Amino acid sequence: MTDTGNRGTPVPVLAVDGPGGAGKGTVAKEVADRLGWHLLDSGSLYRITAYAALQQDINLESSQDVAAIARELDVQFVQSDSGVRVILSGSDVSDAIRTEEAGRSASIVARDSAVRDALIDRQRAFAEPPGLVADGRDMGSVVFPDAGLKIFLTASVAERARRRYKQLKDKGMDVSLPALSRDMEERDRRDSERAVAPLRATDDARVLDSTNLDIQGVVDQVMLWVAEVFPNA
Ligand code: C5P
Repeated sequence: MTDTGNRGTPVPVLAVDGPGGAGKGTVAKEVADRLGWHLLDSGSLYRITAYAALQQDINLESSQDVAAIARELDVQFVQSDSGVRVILSGSDVSDAIRTEEAGRSASIVARDSAVRDALIDRQRAFAEPPGLVADGRDMGSVVFPDAGLKIFLTASVAERARRRYKQLKDKGMDVSLPALSRDMEERDRRDSERAVAPLRATDDARVLDSTNLDIQGVVDQVMLWVAEVFPNA
């Protein structure tokens, strides 16, 4: 029911894994806010790593170079009125790392085991009292295998593409739904078929299909499970 945080303190962890566009980010944030727990958006670390590598003209396939960047990232997550801002070496890269291109680059560096290893301790350091909601692809399988509650949140590709389309349109970005759908399928494939930490539901995860649920419906279900597993949260 509890995990050992980076300082040996038992900290409850809720792992939320699943493919892109399933609503993990929104749900994880809402649940973390309600519980007053910390939030780990692990995808942002892969996005930041890829972004930093490209900034330094490093080939994304160059394992050791990208892993070195991942190890040495000078990154801060700063709370602001517009949500959490990502500050990389003093520059605000919050918007730059959210593009579809950045997501694609992230999924390329994420295939590499040296890069993944380089980010593990940084992720585990987020497990601080009173608890952590960790959002990603391998939170329950690799980073927090002892998480008290593991949820695998999924939805059909068509629905996930439609949600991502709306999200990007609302931000004023110029996107095409068929292109997004294709990108999403390609990213799913890369995430599921990679040799290290492939995207999959662990046997002890509770699978939640959000195709026909709105965010509130998903959050309600997650909160029911949280109340069952972490009665003191
Ligand atoms: O969740 P997000 O779309 O920000 O993640 C970007 C990419 O980072 C994913 O497509 C995936 O390849 C990678 N990722 C990962 N493991 C995680 C989180 C993200 O491999 N825990």
